[in-house]
Amino acid sequence: SGRAVAERVASRVLDVPDFPKPGVMFKDLMPLFADGDTFREVIDGIVRHYGRDSFDAVVGIEARGFVVAAAIAYAAGVGVVPVRKAGKLPRVAYSASYALEYGEATLEVHQDAFTAGHRVLVVDDVLATGGTAQATLDLVERAGGTVAGFTVLLELGFLGGRERLAPRAVHALLTV
Ligand code: PRP
Repeated sequence: SGRAVAERVASRVLDVPDFPKPGVMFKDLMPLFADGDTFREVIDGIVRHYGRDSFDAVVGIEARGFVVAAAIAYAAGVGVVPVRKAGKLPRVAYSASYALEYGEATLEVHQDAFTAGHRVLVVDDVLATGGTAQATLDLVERAGGTVAGFTVLLELGFLGGRERLAPRAVHALLTV
């Protein structure tokens, strides 16, 4: 059941205090990725949730989003498109910047990444403030894609990402 999967996921997320800096509680999903049975259930569950014919491509957000995106794309029989941090893509790209607590971050996608009107499922490991997701959804649309959904394995509800992304829908396997 969905609840059983959520419990298995919860038990495979480790809280790491003071990473990457003092005062931050880092959510480490590596134990979940490393557990083959749970990882496969999670991926298959996401594909079932949306329906394998409801999207034409999957976008993964660097870096941990790549792990999830590639697996979903493979399971659904579609391609995967990376959204990368600034300066990593070799060809002409769209850029979107967003504010961080200190400074700003920039994400990019190749301008020819999507066929016009392609329905794009955007995936990441964690939704925190939603800045990363908002920039990525904007990039998908600027590049001619249609956002079919946004899904994460873990949502940190207290940081307000879901509200920031409204009225877009967010699907989260687990919310803390
Ligand atoms: C983490 C996470 C999301 C983002 C969420 O990535 O994987 O992409 O932060 O934060 P937000 O909702 O506040 O924008 P990170 O920037 O640590 O990159 P990494 O996966 O390359 O380590």
